[in-house]
Amino acid sequence: LPPDQQQMIEAHELLRKFYHHLLLNTKEGQEALEYLLNRGFTKESIEKYQIGWSLPNWDFSVKFLQKRGYSLSLMEKAGLIIKRDSSEEYFDRFRNRIMFPLWDHKGNTIAFSGRAFGQDEPKYLNSPETVLFNKSKTLYNFHHARAPIRKLQKAVLFEGFADVIASDRAGVANGIATMGTSLTDEHIRILKRITDTVTVCYDSDSAGIEAAFRASNLLANNGFNIEVAQMPDKMDPDDHIKKYGGEKFRNDVLGNCMTFMSFKMFYYRLGKNLSNEGERLQYIEMLLNEISALDKAVERDHYLRQLADEFSLSLEALKQQQQQIFFSRK
Ligand code: UTP
Ligand code: MN
Ligand code: MN
Ligand code: MN
Ligand code: MN
Repeated sequence: LPPDQQQMIEAHELLRKFYHHLLLNTKEGQEALEYLLNRGFTKESIEKYQIGWSLPNWDFSVKFLQKRGYSLSLMEKAGLIIKRDSSEEYFDRFRNRIMFPLWDHKGNTIAFSGRAFGQDEPKYLNSPETVLFNKSKTLYNFHHARAPIRKLQKAVLFEGFADVIASDRAGVANGIATMGTSLTDEHIRILKRITDTVTVCYDSDSAGIEAAFRASNLLANNGFNIEVAQMPDKMDPDDHIKKYGGEKFRNDVLGNCMTFMSFKMFYYRLGKNLSNEGERLQYIEMLLNEISALDKAVERDHYLRQLADEFSLSLEALKQQQQQIFFSRK
């Protein structure tokens, strides 16, 4: 690495250790620690994920870094501090936040995400894109999860990194997350090198379902086998684990996933009133289109039967229409 980048990493490592120390061993950090413990974070996960807390001061890290000889303009490029307009003064980017180090795939700290625990906005403040940190290439927890993903031949993709940490506590070691962005082709390429099976386990609110639909399609179009998890009551994995415990999460959520086709059925009927004839026919047509795109005859048959049963339709008629779609595509 060029010396500049090496220094940027060093600075992140020093701050990571200091934030972690502040959270665990100081009186000032106590409120943040209590917040985390109340949310169900354990001492073990705080340790493993090197979670910390940043002081409310405006210039704590500026002074911390300056004292250790780092160039402030370099630290600004690293995203740790911000320069005031029209003066030579710098101030801290992260103040009074729970600090989550973000790692590159080798385990170097290259950025932070800081969570507010009062009313501060935004909820999560991330480092900006820098020469070290590229969101569209970063998968949270990849350095821990890589070996388990290889071993299990499956990755579990979450929406938030709090979900990765909670599910790790629940015994799920192959979890990763994007950094609040959609899944990109770069993420896909990184994953494809180590597995071709992914469980999509996004939040079960409407934003999460939309994002899961997009991610699933991108994964499927890139040749991944996928399954999709859903939780009740718009929960996210972290909520579910806190409320019901790790075993129920593993069994009832991850152990009870939908196939991609079942997820499409679930997705297409959201917001539709299937007792309305027009909407029902529209829904059936959308599914026939999807069924026609399936490679395996057995799968096509399975879902056609399911449709026939649910809507009391003749299997013959469904087959006929599906085959029309199938052949008109060839
Ligand atoms: P969520 O809002 O679902 O976060 O956003 P969460 O993981 O459930 O967080 P808690 O439980 O409230 O603490 C999912 C992801 O979107 C990004 C973060 O990466 C987060 O993990 N995000 C969210 C941001 O970058 N900024 C925000 O203000 C909110
Ligand atoms: Mn420690
Ligand atoms: Mn969400
Ligand atoms: Mn969430
Ligand atoms: Mn959450």
